[in-house]
Amino acid sequence: MGENIEKIIEVKNVKKIYHMGHERICALNDVSFHILKGEFCCLLGTSGSGKSTLLNLMAGIEKASGGQIIIKGKNISKMSENNLAKFRQRYLGFVFQSYNLMNSMTAIENVEFPLVFKKVPRKIRRKMARDMLIKVGLGSRLRHKPKEMSGGQQQRVGIARAFVANPQIVFADEPTGNLDTKTTMEVMDLIKGMAKANHQTIVMVTHDPRLASYADKIIHILDGNIQSVEILRDITKPEEQTAASLEDTEEENKKEEKEIVSVQATENDKEMEERI
Ligand SMILES: Nc1ncnc2c1ncn2[C@@H]1O[C@H](COP(=O)(O)OP(=O)(O)OP(=O)(O)O)[C@@H](O)[C@H]1O
Ligand SMILES: [Mg+2]
Repeated sequence: MGENIEKIIEVKNVKKIYHMGHERICALNDVSFHILKGEFCCLLGTSGSGKSTLLNLMAGIEKASGGQIIIKGKNISKMSENNLAKFRQRYLGFVFQSYNLMNSMTAIENVEFPLVFKKVPRKIRRKMARDMLIKVGLGSRLRHKPKEMSGGQQQRVGIARAFVANPQIVFADEPTGNLDTKTTMEVMDLIKGMAKANHQTIVMVTHDPRLASYADKIIHILDGNIQSVEILRDITKPEEQTAASLEDTEEENKKEEKEIVSVQATENDKEMEERI
């Protein structure tokens, strides 16, 4: 079963060159790798290494100078603007470092926003946005505007907005970059938990190796090149986890057996009592 997991994103010999006057800046230099469906993948590297450029190319926000980016079997570099926009609405979600919320809108209106483009009827999208905000722990902040919330709360709204339409892939560029350590861990757990529960693929940019340890796979980037691909958890081989969860199940079974035995014992005791 393992080997059949779909390569949801394939990056093949991708280059990105920026031209500024006479200057030519090579932000990405022949980059190739793939990401599996359901994988949590981090792009890790120092400032200026090309992480955001790579994320923006994969998310269809910028165009590559060369090579191919294939998502769900489709070469996004070849799509028309219109088709790319539809593709992004249908399959992709985004979380930004600076939250990118609409300041004049309430939390619930911000989360509803992607559903407006998907033409989800008003009542249904209100309910979906509300449910999602409750899920991220903001049930009591539905009518607050971004300026009336803390940074961590604003990013929770950002996460609710990214996940509300149940996208197959969520891209996140330094999503905890403006948050303190405790809130960072909460936000990371939230992103990972939501993605794993719905088998979604996450592509996250960070410069922090501690955050990258949340990932299944780390793509190390240096000066526009891939330095190495590090697999922390092979999602094609769930054996380790299965073995661990089997042990848990065994423990639980034993516990249950004991409970059943003790219930039977009590029933026997009662019977005995009645006989006596
Ligand atoms: N629009 C642009 N025009 C010209 N050069 C750019 C542009 N965007 C990025 N660059 C250059 O490309 C290189 C990679 O930039 P990128 O933003 O991808 O880095 P990064 O790894 O995300 O860094 P950081 O951690 O600081 O966000 C840098 O040298 C940067 O100066
Ligand atoms: Mg960046």
